[in-house]
Amino acid sequence: MKTTITNTIKYIGVDDLDLDLFESQYIIPNGISYNSYLILDDKVAIMDTVDFRKCEEWMVNLKNELNSRVPDYLVVQHLEPDHAGCIAEILKLYPTVKIVASARACKMLPQFFEGIDFSQNTIEIKEGDTLCLGSHTLQFFMAPMVHWPEVMVTYDQQDKVIFSADGFGKFGALSHDEDWACEARRYYFNICGKYGTAVQTLLKKLSTLDIAYICPLHGPILGENLGYYISLYDTWSRYDVETEGIFIAYASIHGGTAAVAHRLKEILIEKGAPKVSITDLSRDDMAEAIEDAFRMDRLVVAAASYDADVFPPMHDFLHHLQLKLYQNRRVGIIENGSWAPSAARVMRGMLEQMKEIEIVEPMITIQSRMKQSDIPQLEALADALLKQ
Ligand code: FEO
Repeated sequence: MKTTITNTIKYIGVDDLDLDLFESQYIIPNGISYNSYLILDDKVAIMDTVDFRKCEEWMVNLKNELNSRVPDYLVVQHLEPDHAGCIAEILKLYPTVKIVASARACKMLPQFFEGIDFSQNTIEIKEGDTLCLGSHTLQFFMAPMVHWPEVMVTYDQQDKVIFSADGFGKFGALSHDEDWACEARRYYFNICGKYGTAVQTLLKKLSTLDIAYICPLHGPILGENLGYYISLYDTWSRYDVETEGIFIAYASIHGGTAAVAHRLKEILIEKGAPKVSITDLSRDDMAEAIEDAFRMDRLVVAAASYDADVFPPMHDFLHHLQLKLYQNRRVGIIENGSWAPSAARVMRGMLEQMKEIEIVEPMITIQSRMKQSDIPQLEALADALLKQ
């Protein structure tokens, strides 16, 4: 792994390949990286720590690059434990280090570290403040709610590096060479999806800067074709459509609803739909389903009725969409019920609480198993979905 970003900025982060679930909910088949950086100048600044799980390994990287020097500053851009897990260890080892963080972060610090008095060790930062390290000058920009309220990002004026906190991060350890967009999108919508307005505000601030490198807290350092990444972030944070297509999400108990969903997919393809994806909410990755719902412009939800409500995997999916502020999309609804169908009423109710959701008619009810007589309704729903 490349550890030199510029002559005086080093990567000292670590990969985590044995964490079962990130934030106790997201599968990470290729692990995740906790990024951390070191700026070596007249003064030395550490840019964030890592998750305590990997503290020992990180300390080795840090000490190797410090080469016996003592750090002057620890810049804490984000207090979430996957980045701030080793602050106490740094203070133990280097008691003179100053923690540089937003006022909100300084206030929140004691919540995470009982018994440590931070009052003599912190420098509170506000929007636009600078910190001179020698030839490097760091400029700080507040980025509240990207992804927590205390977040700030840091611009190194000399090397034109933006340390972007969770922004532009992705799942996947750095030892895995993989496509950026797929896992960055899944990361974005599930971690920051609710905070599109905050991300837009940050993007506006970044647009005034000359940027050569984006150094996020997860995933690869971005040094080329930055317009591509920034433009995807712009699309995502506006809740705009990235891909024209239809995403079918189904929650099926005994396979009846699954059969309808797959039949609708076939009909849509026969009718020339640009792209159709389908997911089984009981078995496939929920985080990827959330990602795909945001990625495409049309969604179909198909679910069984259950306890006079909707089958729980669908409820979970729609609840996630509500939390992440899913909006501005066209949605078709299919319910299944062997007696007193209730799923459509619940799904429609949840969708109607979201912003600018257009329900595409006809709403379809299947009784137990799809019959030949149901096909014209499916054709009608497909036509309606394909009509712009
Ligand atoms: Fe990677 Fe919001 O922490």
